[in-house]
Amino acid sequence: MSSLKDVYEKKEVLITGGLGFLGTNLAHRLVDLGAKITLTDAVLPQYGANQFNLDGIRDKVEINVNDIRDKSAMNQLVRDKDFIFHFAGQVAHNDSLEDPFLDLEINCSGTLTLLEACRKYNHGAKLLFSGSRLQYGKTERLPVEENHPLRPKSPYGVHKTAAEEYFIYYNREVGLRTTCFRITNPYGPRSQMKHSKYGIINWFIRQAMDGNTIEVFGEGKQKRDYIYVDDLVEAFLLAGIDGKTDGEVFNVGSGVPTEFKEMTESIVSIVGNGNIKYVEWPENYKNIETGDFYADISKIKSVTSWNPGIDLLDGIKRTFQFYEKNRDHYW
Ligand SMILES: NC(=O)c1ccc[n+]([C@@H]2O[C@H](COP(=O)([O-])OP(=O)(O)OC[C@H]3O[C@@H](n4cnc5c(N)ncnc54)[C@H](O)[C@@H]3O)[C@@H](O)[C@H]2O)c1
Repeated sequence: MSSLKDVYEKKEVLITGGLGFLGTNLAHRLVDLGAKITLTDAVLPQYGANQFNLDGIRDKVEINVNDIRDKSAMNQLVRDKDFIFHFAGQVAHNDSLEDPFLDLEINCSGTLTLLEACRKYNHGAKLLFSGSRLQYGKTERLPVEENHPLRPKSPYGVHKTAAEEYFIYYNREVGLRTTCFRITNPYGPRSQMKHSKYGIINWFIRQAMDGNTIEVFGEGKQKRDYIYVDDLVEAFLLAGIDGKTDGEVFNVGSGVPTEFKEMTESIVSIVGNGNIKYVEWPENYKNIETGDFYADISKIKSVTSWNPGIDLLDGIKRTFQFYEKNRDHYW
């Protein structure tokens, strides 16, 4: 099988939501692989766009400020691209409960705008989508495999599922080459650190670095599946080069269940600051709590050569070191 460099070198790559956490981590790796990269982003203030995320590669990428909902911009941007990674999104699932229409516009109509642009102007590109574990809703069995029922508990999960269905439809009926991921809980360098609406590990690292008390809901027994961003980026790159991923949906996580308590204690110990307090579940979280979650990742492992390699302690250390050095750009 060809190496990632053989495939991505000199290829035209478009990343939507390209100034955010996943987009810029992918961009750093693609620069190493010699790709020609265009990052498009609306730089909406509530999300993770940050120019500092491009530190070290700024002169090696094209930046395009546009909104995924802008049809004429997307019609231009998709042309001549070999790969399109679709990360632009309304990312805060709790906010989607308050404003489902914004979520619908960005996560659903925005996705449709991108796919329609490809139907009209670029049939050949490989398209990859960043869905979420929140599409599953309350878990019925563990580990969660891709056939587990989808019963989202927020408009965010509903719209991610609709967007995923569009990706599958455009593969089946239109012939576009699309692949969808349902991502567990990603963390790592270059994520926003200003609020707790998404990116729980990053948020807790900030709390610990600031010497604050980290509030853990309930007894901290709830299990989650945390995936370090470099592993996630590698999964996207490998899925991008394999024709067997066309039209398919994959869980992407570490596959390892970790209790909240263990995750939080690890952060406080690695950062060497902060402390932990156990509190009652707040009402607005109780509503959308999914129960324990960890993903069955056997499908992506069997179709590609991907294998997540960075364990939680190592990932927390790397993340902490990044923000210790670059704190001023994220606080
Ligand atoms: N971070 C997570 O916990 C997580 C988990 C599962 C899936 N995802 C999905 O992965 C994708 C990337 O998330 P991230 O963690 O990098 O978040 P992020 O906030 O760092 O990046 C998202 C980027 O999308 C941009 N954006 C938002 N609306 C846009 C619009 N209408 N047009 C153009 N750009 C727009 C933002 O400005 C931001 O730079 C999202 O679609 C998200 O739903 C994230």
